[in-house]
Amino acid sequence: KHQVIIDADPGIDDSLALLVALQSPMIDVIGISIVAGNVPTEIGVANALKVLREVDRLDIPVFAGAEKPWVHDYVSAQDTHGMDGMGESHLPLVTEVSASALDAQAGYEALLSAHEDVWFMALGPLTNVAQSLKTQPELWSHVSRLIVMGGAYQTNGNTSPVAEYNFWVDPDAADYVFQNSPLLIELVPLDVTRKIVMTPNILQMMQYLDADKSALVAKILPFYFDFHWAQEHVLGAVINDPLVMVYALHPELAKTIDKYVTVVTSGIALGQSIVDGADFWQRPANAKILQQIDAKRAMAYIVGGLLTRDVT
Ligand code: BDR
Ligand code: CA
Repeated sequence: KHQVIIDADPGIDDSLALLVALQSPMIDVIGISIVAGNVPTEIGVANALKVLREVDRLDIPVFAGAEKPWVHDYVSAQDTHGMDGMGESHLPLVTEVSASALDAQAGYEALLSAHEDVWFMALGPLTNVAQSLKTQPELWSHVSRLIVMGGAYQTNGNTSPVAEYNFWVDPDAADYVFQNSPLLIELVPLDVTRKIVMTPNILQMMQYLDADKSALVAKILPFYFDFHWAQEHVLGAVINDPLVMVYALHPELAKTIDKYVTVVTSGIALGQSIVDGADFWQRPANAKILQQIDAKRAMAYIVGGLLTRDVT
């Protein structure tokens, strides 16, 4: 099993990603850290605990992380994910356990100093990751893969014409991570996540196949469908974050390109990920960017992971 730390801002699609990871026989989630993003950190912590309760894994520590971006004002995405971050399902709070007494930075120190070859998956703004790289760079020799959902390579953004939400919220942290990561960042951008679309009929089929295992998914997804319908008039919702888990285990589904990436930290293009595709700047590649994905197989792994607890 691969030992994995997940940094997230749950979030509807983060919750799906956590479910896929937690139920995969190939992944051992050793800790979850929460960053301010889709919802304020405190709500994200509560939601991670709700997901852990669903799969009976409240033994996994949840660390509260940054409550706001490094420089810019914090803007949540509660319009997309609901005020509670889980599609206004307003599930009861977990009371059996609380979040870890350690914050995200102390949590990374505890976990990474005790493990080697850890995969780090970042599903939200990169504030916690940047803070760790800045203050505890030595810990990152214990990480073998850093996989990030964020940015847009050749497509338009989802928060501005050019910016994807995770990078737009904390562009300073995002750029810090690109410029300072000792690892080649495996970047899962909107270009490929936009191809991963959950639809009401897929959800219905999941409920038909296994009503119990799709119960949580069925509570949180309808809000996402409604949002996408209102915004884009599409009968389905892009589920970005679970593609990180599927790509991590199945890199053969993706076509990638190694390039230098920087993130714009001010002005009209705030949060844009600039990829130096033609090597104008002659800088070494800092990212392995997903360009294409076998979307049908990826979706099959996601549905399978949510339902059968078996993404192998
Ligand atoms: C990203 O932003 C969030 O709304 C999603 O959880 C995903 O991580 C997509 O832009
Ligand atoms: Ca997210």
